[in-house]
Amino acid sequence: MTKDSILVTGVSSGIGLTTASYLLKRGFHVYGSVRRGAGPAELTKEPGFTVLHFDVRDRAAIRAGIQRIRDDGNRLVGLVNNAGVAISGPVETVSEEEYRRQFEVNVFGLIAVCQETLPLLHASREAGFHPRIVNIGSVSGYLTSPFTTIYSASKFAVEALTDGLRRELLAYGIDVISVAPGPVKTPIWSKGRDQTEAFRDNRYSHMLEKLGPYTEAAEADGVETEVVAAAIYEALTAQKPQPAVLVMKKGWMAKLLKLTPKRFQDRFFVKRLAENRRY
Ligand SMILES: NC(=O)c1ccc[n+]([C@@H]2O[C@H](COP(=O)([O-])OP(=O)(O)OC[C@H]3O[C@@H](n4cnc5c(N)ncnc54)[C@H](OP(=O)(O)O)[C@@H]3O)[C@@H](O)[C@H]2O)c1
Repeated sequence: MTKDSILVTGVSSGIGLTTASYLLKRGFHVYGSVRRGAGPAELTKEPGFTVLHFDVRDRAAIRAGIQRIRDDGNRLVGLVNNAGVAISGPVETVSEEEYRRQFEVNVFGLIAVCQETLPLLHASREAGFHPRIVNIGSVSGYLTSPFTTIYSASKFAVEALTDGLRRELLAYGIDVISVAPGPVKTPIWSKGRDQTEAFRDNRYSHMLEKLGPYTEAAEADGVETEVVAAAIYEALTAQKPQPAVLVMKKGWMAKLLKLTPKRFQDRFFVKRLAENRRY
C-alpha cells in the first residue's frame, strides 16, 4: 500500500534523529539519510523507517537514494533539509577547506537534495496532496554573531533559498518553510569545536577565550530536540503554516535585535568580548 512519506536528511543524531522518530510515531513512513553505518538502532528497528545512504555533497548518491523512494512506490509528501555542519572561528583563520565545506553541506547540498526530490514532490501535488519542503535554518540566519560568521552566512543563504523556492513553487502547490532554531542540545556544538584549528593561537585568542563561557551557557540553556521536531511536524502538517518559524527561548529578543540599527547590534555582540571599548 502507498504510504505518505517524508525524507529527513542527517538522521544519525540531534534534530534529524528526533524528528524522524517524531514523524514515525505520527504515522508517516520516514526515509532518513545517513553518511555511514546502518543508521541509528532506534530508527532501523521501526518498520516505517527506511535508511538511505548519502552525503549531501554527492549528487550520484543522493539520486540513488531518491530512486529507492521511487522503487518503493511510496508517495513523498515532505522533505526536511536538516543535514548541516557548523564551522566556527575567525573568518581570517578558517581554512579554505573548512569554509568551502560549510557551504558544500549547508547550501549546495540542500540545493542538490531539493533538485533531486522535486520531481517526486510535483508528482504528489499532481495526485492531490500538499507537499512541503522544510529547511532547517538557524537564528544565525537572522543575526550574525562574531566567530560563527561563515556558518551564519550559510544559514542566511538557507533563508534566501527558502523564500525564493517558496515563491517559485507556490504556484505549483508546494510550500517551502524555514524552521530556524536557536541553541539546541545536540552534538553539533562539540563537532564544531573538534573540527577546527581556527581557534589556535591567533590575534583573536583573547576574544575567543571570553566567548567560550557564552557559548557553553547558550548550549546548556538550549532547547531539547523534541521542541524543534514538534515545530517541523507543525510546518509539515498545519493547514496554514508560518513560512518562517524561529524556535528558541526568548526568540522575541532575537527578532527585536534584528530590527535595531547595525551599530547597536555591533555593540551587543562585541561589548562582552573586546578588551577595550575602541570599537
Ligand atoms: N544544535 C543547534 O543548536 C542548532 C541551532 C540551529 C540550527 N541547527 C541546525 O540543525 C541541523 C541539525 O543539526 P544538529 O544540531 O541536530 O546537529 P548534529 O547532531 O550534528 O546533526 C547533523 C546531521 O547532519 C549530518 N551531516 C553532516 N554533514 C553531512 C553531509 N555532508 N552529508 C549528509 N549529512 C551530513 C550529520 O551526519 P554525521 O553524523 O555523519 O556527521 C548529522 O546526521 C543543522 O542544519 C544545524 O545547522 C542546529
